[in-house]
Amino acid sequence: MLYGADYNPDQWPEEVWDDDVRLMQEAGVNIVSLGIFAWSRIQPTEGEWDFAWLDTVIGKLHAGGIRVNLATATASPPPWVSASYPETLPADESGATYWPGSRQHFAPSSPTYRRLAGELVRSIAERYVDHPAVVMWHVGNEFGCHLPMDFSDSARDAYRDWLRAKYTTVEALNDAWGTSFWSQRYAGFDEVFPPRLAPYSHNPSSMLDWRRFTSDMLLECYLMEREILLAAGATQPITTNFMGPFKPADYAAWAPHMDVIADDCYPDPSSPTRVRDSAFQRDLIRSLKPGVPWLLWEQATDAVNWRPSNPGKAPGQLMAETAQSVARGADGIMFFQWRQSRAGSEKFHSAMLPHAGTDTATWRAVTELGARLAALPELPPPGRDAKVALAFDWENWWAVEERDHPTELDYLAVCREWYGAFHARGIMVDIVPPEQVDDGYDLVVAPALYLLRDAGAGALLRFVESGGTLLAGPFSDVVDEHDQFRDGGFVTQLGQALGIRFENFGALGGASTGGSGVGAQGGRQADASHETLPLRIAETTARATLVAETVHPTTADVVADFEDGRPALTRNQYAAGEAWYVATVPDAAGIDAVASELIAASGVEPVVAGLPDGVEVARRGELVTVINHGHEPADITLDGVDWESGAAVGSRTLGPQEVLFARMPVAGTGPEASADPVLAHAPTA
Ligand code: GLA
Repeated sequence: MLYGADYNPDQWPEEVWDDDVRLMQEAGVNIVSLGIFAWSRIQPTEGEWDFAWLDTVIGKLHAGGIRVNLATATASPPPWVSASYPETLPADESGATYWPGSRQHFAPSSPTYRRLAGELVRSIAERYVDHPAVVMWHVGNEFGCHLPMDFSDSARDAYRDWLRAKYTTVEALNDAWGTSFWSQRYAGFDEVFPPRLAPYSHNPSSMLDWRRFTSDMLLECYLMEREILLAAGATQPITTNFMGPFKPADYAAWAPHMDVIADDCYPDPSSPTRVRDSAFQRDLIRSLKPGVPWLLWEQATDAVNWRPSNPGKAPGQLMAETAQSVARGADGIMFFQWRQSRAGSEKFHSAMLPHAGTDTATWRAVTELGARLAALPELPPPGRDAKVALAFDWENWWAVEERDHPTELDYLAVCREWYGAFHARGIMVDIVPPEQVDDGYDLVVAPALYLLRDAGAGALLRFVESGGTLLAGPFSDVVDEHDQFRDGGFVTQLGQALGIRFENFGALGGASTGGSGVGAQGGRQADASHETLPLRIAETTARATLVAETVHPTTADVVADFEDGRPALTRNQYAAGEAWYVATVPDAAGIDAVASELIAASGVEPVVAGLPDGVEVARRGELVTVINHGHEPADITLDGVDWESGAAVGSRTLGPQEVLFARMPVAGTGPEASADPVLAHAPTA
């Protein structure tokens, strides 16, 4: 188990470094991510390099038995870069420049930025590639975090090249974008601009390509650095830190280029859905590389500094949140950052070593956590533990939240709500693109899958044909990969399996956004100001939100109606399986009731049945983790042995935030699980 933090010794005088290593040892730290923002220290001016300090730090860490995840330091160009090469600066939609003075002020597609960043990476790689302390490479940092989209002239030029490579002829682009509409027909690629400030809606098909392009530009920066590391002879795993469900970067497309997946997760202590949402994030991350453990690269020991109000964690919460990562596949637990900064924007952000020193609750929590993780017997790799898949797709996310739709819909919120119904019951869920759905699952939930590619539809159909249970809807199977309607109406791919015919989207009334139809960008969830419709599902009275679509069963049975008698939930036998359609976004009670029906129909089981509310359970091969996130003690019963003590568990009371790691044999283990420790995932070109 890796344990450590971002380490920024360049913020501190050399006198502190020995103390750092000593205290790291005391805390159980065995790895640090080094030098993430050290570009200006390594290369103070163009042509001037200073590695002496880094040699010293790495030497001290190595002597102290602390491994290094060495950063390529490209995330914050130094002042000389911005001053000498203003073409490296990004721009917003209106053409305004993002100036230096913060971080991430680079245009990802700028050839000059890439050249300078490349020189930095090459220098670092050539110097340290064989250093025995260096066990991993940390490329960039949180690509796109602050600045997911750049509209600069570099972006314009790169976008035209990207479109040329994708479409070859401008006629193909015109067809894909439907440019006969509103006189948008292009005569050449050089007439295309990024979607800069415009009087009204941009062409939605172009927006989809623009989002693909911006994700690709960030990925290209990563790949550029990765190739330099490989050319220098890197044999250590290479990766960058993801941010869970981060809309601008299609991590499902990025994942194959990471040797292991690393993730940063900062659950919001004030959010009532904190536990569910962080579980969703960890399951999404685990699902990106099935069978391979992942690394939690950043979490906070206590408060962060970047929300409007920043409460700390409750006693025990750090352990409970950490256990959630381990339970869902993490083999490394790390923090931002090692030593709390004394200057700069993040001086109020917690760290492993607080500014107030070691006589603090944070330091005690950190050292206790390090000791407990170090003592854990070896963990199994995450297996094929989930029988339920949530179909989650970035391209769909981009498309379904474009403007000018029947209603605005918050895709992530809808997916989390469905996920939550299973999470609350202790049922494991993988979160995968539709193409990755296979017959290893028993139940697949595909909410609001508006954009459905042929290959995704094919995988979902094969899944049903082979005996699986699928739920789709609402607003699903509406457009193709260009965000265009397909011939033949709606649900053209899944309609036969669903046994329904689609008539209309039936948007429910909402609060007016004012103006001439120019709605607010970004999705929403229904709130009190929006119309809802009563909906009865089995014994539950729930409410339909956002839409109440009109669908007509062809071969499907109607399981639930809207108040006005139209079908709200249908179920259809198809080949060896069954396909359900839900014609609305039910409220939480409704989603829960539909989930109950699906669980009964598909026979999926919880990891451990009968746990009290607020007690989370997850399986990772033989490891079953039970976490009491509640404020009261909780009684649990479980037929397994304590992973740490070896004693039989039986019935036990877990205090608030208490964690139990238990061993429970698996029926039919996952064959794809990798037995390699996380650092053994060497890169391949
Ligand atoms: C991100 C960054 C870190 C730091 C933390 C603060 O995760 O990667 O450099 O800014 O946020 O929470």
